[in-house]
Amino acid sequence: MCGIAGYIGKKEGLPIVFTNLRKLEYRGYDSAGVAFFDFRGNGKLIKTVGKLDNLEKLIKNKKSLPLTAVVGHTRWATHGVPNKANAHPHADCDGKIFLVHNGIIENYQELKESLIKKGHNFRSQTDTEVAAHLVEEYGFEPALKKIVGAYALAVIYKNDPGKIYVARLGSPLVVGVGQDEYYVASDPTALAGLVKKVIYLKDGQRGVLSLNSMLIGPARPKIEPLDIDPEQAQKGDFPHFMLKEIFEGPEVLLSALRGRLMPDKGIVKLGGLEGVADQLRKVDKMEILACGTSYYSGLVGELLFEEFARIPTEVLLASEYRYRKLPVKKGTGALFISQSGETADTLAALRKANNHKLLTLGIVNAVGSSIARETKAGVYNHAGPEIGVASTKAFLSQLGVLTLMSLYFNPRKTKNHKEFLEELAAIPLKIRSILKESNQIKTLAKKYLKYNNFLYLGRGYNYPTALEGALKLKEISYVHAEGYAGGEMKHGPIALIDKNFPTIAVVTKNLVYEKMISNLEEIKARSGPILAIATAGDKKIAKLADDVFYVPKTAEPLEAMLNIIPLQLFAYYFGTLRGHDVDKPRNLAKSVTVE
Ligand code: AGP
Ligand code: GLU
Repeated sequence: MCGIAGYIGKKEGLPIVFTNLRKLEYRGYDSAGVAFFDFRGNGKLIKTVGKLDNLEKLIKNKKSLPLTAVVGHTRWATHGVPNKANAHPHADCDGKIFLVHNGIIENYQELKESLIKKGHNFRSQTDTEVAAHLVEEYGFEPALKKIVGAYALAVIYKNDPGKIYVARLGSPLVVGVGQDEYYVASDPTALAGLVKKVIYLKDGQRGVLSLNSMLIGPARPKIEPLDIDPEQAQKGDFPHFMLKEIFEGPEVLLSALRGRLMPDKGIVKLGGLEGVADQLRKVDKMEILACGTSYYSGLVGELLFEEFARIPTEVLLASEYRYRKLPVKKGTGALFISQSGETADTLAALRKANNHKLLTLGIVNAVGSSIARETKAGVYNHAGPEIGVASTKAFLSQLGVLTLMSLYFNPRKTKNHKEFLEELAAIPLKIRSILKESNQIKTLAKKYLKYNNFLYLGRGYNYPTALEGALKLKEISYVHAEGYAGGEMKHGPIALIDKNFPTIAVVTKNLVYEKMISNLEEIKARSGPILAIATAGDKKIAKLADDVFYVPKTAEPLEAMLNIIPLQLFAYYFGTLRGHDVDKPRNLAKSVTVE
């Protein structure tokens, strides 16, 4: 779902499209390409894996004549590893149609099979290439009707030069309206300063742009002013990527669950694991390996696997696992969790597990990354690129995939199985209701801004939640925050508690609620300020905590997906109020590719 750029007009389109792809780079990508047909129908398709610098070298001596329809793309792979063949634009069999796409074609396999039966030859592993052959086989509009999924498309034809066909369903696409020229872009960032008027295509809108005409329907296109500053446009309505990515939580979780969770049928489908289904059945011990935030999601996974997959599970820091003399036990599965798929410690641990002939699995966000490629099988997050250095949406997505995986491993139905799947499907909406109360968290961050030390407490599924909440605050605001298991407070940390040492406690209504209440009483008795994350309707907690943020009730194994949201927001507001660059905190890298 990364970047699309297009141009049709009197100017030379190739440099314009390339420049506009550069403006979309911030969205993260792994490969790129451009294509054009001039008015004589002479075409060129140039693409490469890696950064736009590689593409720039390939096009530097290329010219595109005026009146040439040009399209370009930066790809964030979802289907097919990042390589040249899988990069966009994609072509039809004879190279008479060039197409770029943002989104996911969910029914691409069945479409591909039927097109192959009709004699189409495919060059890539992607879902997108299917669209190019559909257009070749059926024409532009009929092809759209066959696609299930999300798309922003720009298509050009050898035999219909000087035109760009566009369509939008689920993935954004903007048309820039110039003087006898039109631009296409996946977001307005790329058009700032080039045009004053744009059309934000609505879902279902499609049409054709040519030199001096634009035909878009079925709904009448609405021409709107474009007056944004490029930097601002990249973050949409948000001041920072971190906040944008926290607010993307519901969509990100939906994307992780899409096509995999079927409550009505009471099943979970993980296509990425089907190839190792037999070996999975023999797994009688699971080791989860990761670093940082991914390690904390692994701690939630440990409890999920024990509860639903009924597999003894151990979570280990990848950096420790590398040097441990762990006895190698047949039947052990090793699950590697990594947003970037390039974390050095996690990759090294994976190579050790592969050497020990363990069944290695991955939960990775970056398609085609090293960890994704070197695990035997795995499940992609489909969370899209995470730009903020502090992980937020990826953590949430990891929890969603871990929940699916734990249910997939043991199809024996736990009691209330279907209700549980339905509750899982309802989590994105519950997150949305929490996000609506974000101003409450901002007020609380202001109130606690004066403190420089925090204790985060939780038990059970909320112990990792507390650890992750503390990590977020550390990373973003540079104040000391320590996550602890509630049951451990008496074994030391309670010595820290006084009026200058607040505790953020996750005290939602669950099996260990009363135990957490005891923790709060002990803290209160020592004048420690308390901010509690509690279940909506819990009156008792208000008598104990100085401040309470309420979250909706849910099943205990799903609580971490809700309870982490206020903690992510608290860290975000606290850090911004302290004046820090929350997207690029000091000393941190987005992907720790060194040991
Ligand atoms: C999370 O906010 C941090 N940026 C960091 O702990 C991160 O989770 C860790 O480096 C692991 O990264 P990975 O998920 O890409 O492997
Ligand atoms: N699903 C397509 C692919 O994997 C498009 C990805 C994108 O939006 O960049 O090639």
